[in-house]
Amino acid sequence: MKTAVCYYSRHHGNTLQVLQAMARADAMDLIDVTARQMVRLEDYDCIGFASGVYFGKFH
Ligand SMILES: Cc1cc2nc3c(=O)[nH]c(=O)nc-3n(C[C@H](O)[C@H](O)[C@H](O)COP(=O)(O)O)c2cc1C
Repeated sequence: MKTAVCYYSRHHGNTLQVLQAMARADAMDLIDVTARQMVRLEDYDCIGFASGVYFGKFH
């Protein structure tokens, strides 16, 4: 299964550190939503979204 996680990790890079540990255990592409890049999400079987939580909401 091809997996991607779109992430925003602004404050301490905590979200990215967690995702990098996950990616070492199970192959996945990490997509920085602040970087300009062409990504074809339809090519993935599983798509996740990740960020820190600020005042009860995803960043
Ligand atoms: C101003 C501020 C508000 C926050 N609010 C919450 C919150 O409501 N709930 C929570 O669980 N963590 C909260 N946090 C902690 C962040 O979600 C946590 O540090 C997260 O790992 C940051 O992710 P990042 O380094 O990838 O941006 C808050 C942190 C800051 C600085």
